Amino acid sequence: MSWWRDAAIYQIYPRSFADGNGDGLGDLAGVRARLPYLAALGVDALWFNPWYPSSGADGGYDVIDYREIDPVYGSLAEAEKLIAEARELGLRTIVDIVPNHVSHLHPWFVAGRRELFWFRDRPNNWVSEFGGSPWTQVADGSWYLHLFTAEQPDLNWDHPLVRAEHEDVLRFWFDRGAAGVRIDSAVLPVKDPALPDLVDGEPHPYVDRDELHDIYRSWRQIADSYGGVLIGELWLPDASRFARYLRPDELHTAFNFDFLACPWDAARLRTSIDTTLAAHAPVDAPATWVLSNHDVTRVVTRYGREDTSFSFAAKRAGTFSDLALGTRRARAAALLAMALPGAVYVYQGEELGLPEYEVPADAIRDPMHARSGGVDPGRDGCRIPLPWSGDEPPYGFGGTPTWLPQPSDWSSFTVDAQDGDPESMLTLYRAALRLRRRFSGGLRWLDTPDGVLGFARESGGTCVVNLSSAPVEVPGEVVLASAPLVDGRLAVDAAAWVA
Ligand code: GLC
Repeated sequence: MSWWRDAAIYQIYPRSFADGNGDGLGDLAGVRARLPYLAALGVDALWFNPWYPSSGADGGYDVIDYREIDPVYGSLAEAEKLIAEARELGLRTIVDIVPNHVSHLHPWFVAGRRELFWFRDRPNNWVSEFGGSPWTQVADGSWYLHLFTAEQPDLNWDHPLVRAEHEDVLRFWFDRGAAGVRIDSAVLPVKDPALPDLVDGEPHPYVDRDELHDIYRSWRQIADSYGGVLIGELWLPDASRFARYLRPDELHTAFNFDFLACPWDAARLRTSIDTTLAAHAPVDAPATWVLSNHDVTRVVTRYGREDTSFSFAAKRAGTFSDLALGTRRARAAALLAMALPGAVYVYQGEELGLPEYEVPADAIRDPMHARSGGVDPGRDGCRIPLPWSGDEPPYGFGGTPTWLPQPSDWSSFTVDAQDGDPESMLTLYRAALRLRRRFSGGLRWLDTPDGVLGFARESGGTCVVNLSSAPVEVPGEVVLASAPLVDGRLAVDAAAWVA
């Protein structure tokens, strides 16, 4: 079976993973030094958020040069070394490509190559993904389109050069040993060239356009010629539209945002799992199971809230979370995600059970905060530099000050503090990532009481998750549990794998 169909993929946000040169920013040296940690964790691949030179307007998603490494992270030669060293430890590398836009400091935009962007005499009524108008005026009075920040002008995918350039960039990274590519905002790059106003009930002029499939078919040919994998970031509520991108000659897999946003509720989770599996089966693509990433609220915080679903629109500072409850559920959710058929993603710090940290307003960097007029706290809270060791900031991360402040009460979350502790999140993740390999084949739901999810995999092995209000019987011998059994029964908000 192809490795990616049931892989565990660890997401590295380079700025916040580990700082090797002491400047308070994560870098490639930091990652290289921690490769043994990642190998021992038991993951199969590393996905790096953008590591290219960037104007820093959107956490690296404003790329100046796709064929370079931002000097704050290291050099291209070092990235090549990292890819090779990781591979020796059994870890494949996935790079992040952003086809929808480039930085306003990208040579094309700087050189005034207007035909490669969307310039118009006047704005239309579209809305930026980060709030506000997606149009910015330049000196001669014309406007350019940017679905995200003004520093991220959208590319014109009708132009052959844009297409050729991206195909070349794919080859560039596959040539350097990348095993896969994560495609950012993958349903946005193509626009209706007339840029018509948004009208309720009319086809959307810039989301999920049919022309995208042709682009990804040619990417697939390139990827296949290297044995590489294409992973789409497809935020699409409609499961059948989503699955069209996973047809055998298009993308290999895509992130499961339905599952990521799903509340902690047995019926809702079961529906999400069933819908996911049903959508993927006809195109023979593996499902993916994602609990968090660099854009969303940390999972222990989300599950400890009254509303345990995720949505960008509902994010507010100061929302109360019972972290003990959230952590308990996150442990159970990890066992659920890792027992399901398909690939699983682990966002850095998830394995440490890090909560969301509310960054003080004057230290916020994420443009979502400013563009929402300060209503949305932004995404920095899930991007805090990782705590590795010690009792106080920077917790072994590297130099100080760290680019985002770390909370003063994270000493119990460090890798050192959790290492060897049988009850820690890290110990649970390590065990689960090792033991999940026992699962393979399809899923069969078991007859369980209300509020309890239970399924068996074809390979044998059963997963039971108790979202009801009372302990339940476990149908066999427990191999791994997210919480101690209570009188031999599975506690509330706990999960177990059963032989
Ligand atoms: C994706 C990224 C996000 C970024 C946006 C614009 O959604 O995950 O972090 O801000 O695209 O590139």
